[in-house]
Amino acid sequence: MIELIHHSYKINFDPMKLDVYLSLVLYIYFSIKKCFIMKIAILGCGNMGLAFARSFIQFDLVKKENLLLIEKNEERSQILKKTKEGVVVNVITDDIKEYDLIILAVKPQDFEVLAKEIKGKLTDNQIVLSIMAGIRIKKIIELTDHKYIVRAMPNTPAMLGMGITGFTAVEGISISKLFKVENLINATGRSIYIEDEDMIDAVTALSGSGPAYFYYFVKHMTEAGKKMGFDEGTALLLVKQTMLGAYHLIHNAELSLDELITAVASKGGTTEAALKVFNEQGLDQAIKNGILAAESRAKELSE
Ligand SMILES: NC(=O)c1ccc[n+]([C@@H]2O[C@H](COP(=O)([O-])OP(=O)(O)OC[C@H]3O[C@@H](n4cnc5c(N)ncnc54)[C@H](OP(=O)(O)O)[C@@H]3O)[C@@H](O)[C@H]2O)c1
Repeated sequence: MIELIHHSYKINFDPMKLDVYLSLVLYIYFSIKKCFIMKIAILGCGNMGLAFARSFIQFDLVKKENLLLIEKNEERSQILKKTKEGVVVNVITDDIKEYDLIILAVKPQDFEVLAKEIKGKLTDNQIVLSIMAGIRIKKIIELTDHKYIVRAMPNTPAMLGMGITGFTAVEGISISKLFKVENLINATGRSIYIEDEDMIDAVTALSGSGPAYFYYFVKHMTEAGKKMGFDEGTALLLVKQTMLGAYHLIHNAELSLDELITAVASKGGTTEAALKVFNEQGLDQAIKNGILAAESRAKELSE
């Protein structure tokens, strides 16, 4: 192909037709550019919506002028206007048709109202990406009358580009469009494609809510530190750095979790004493039951 083009270029090049060649080059340049320019609208620009917006900008995946932030909360929208993270509006207009990707980032209880506002305004070229907990694709299709839906469950470390998102999609979305959405999600951290939508509830329970479990554990470890005589700052520093170091060992030490535990808990030692109390008081079971309760709640919400 390249050879052919090269060949024909060599044979047919006519200096008198320079303007024709120039127009052709410009046409190809703008066509390619158009493929890479995405216009994104984020509906609901709270914690998660803004985390997504900032990651897209940080990784240069969208230009600010092509990022529409629709935020109905007046106070929030004023802040967004000042920080100039995108084009900020507080109502949805027909202009939304110009956007390739529409991200639904309102709270699940605000979705029905939002759906009425966007119904009839979307076209088949657009993809809707929902990050709302517990709203199934079927319901999004029903209420918005739009069929190209990707459903994702991120978590708050997305704010630092360190999130993990499980996502699933309806059939019928082209692979190239799905890759574009995946690339955008990856700007907020890592992602994993989930084949079965039902498993999004498990993602919600494990990684969506997961940061809160971690803070809970850090909080109670810090309180134990205070009980032993440390001030809050020192206790928190000891706990946070321990968590960070331990995370890196899970990642790098090539040991199983049990081996890592054993490496700290020598026979008859202090760690063993703590683990014995954790097990006697059923902490292991409580953690599992808590996460399963989160999954059940996610299922209830999506009914
Ligand atoms: N936070 C998490 O850890 C997490 C993790 C995974 C997924 N999610 C999902 O992400 C979504 C957003 O969560 P969040 O924590 O970012 O919520 P949030 O901070 O409350 O942000 C939602 C924003 O949307 C605004 N809003 C409501 N209705 C609107 C409408 N019709 N048009 C435009 N803006 C509207 C809200 O305004 P008002 O405050 O005035 O209502 C609010 O500012 C939720 O569905 C949640 O399930 C959250």
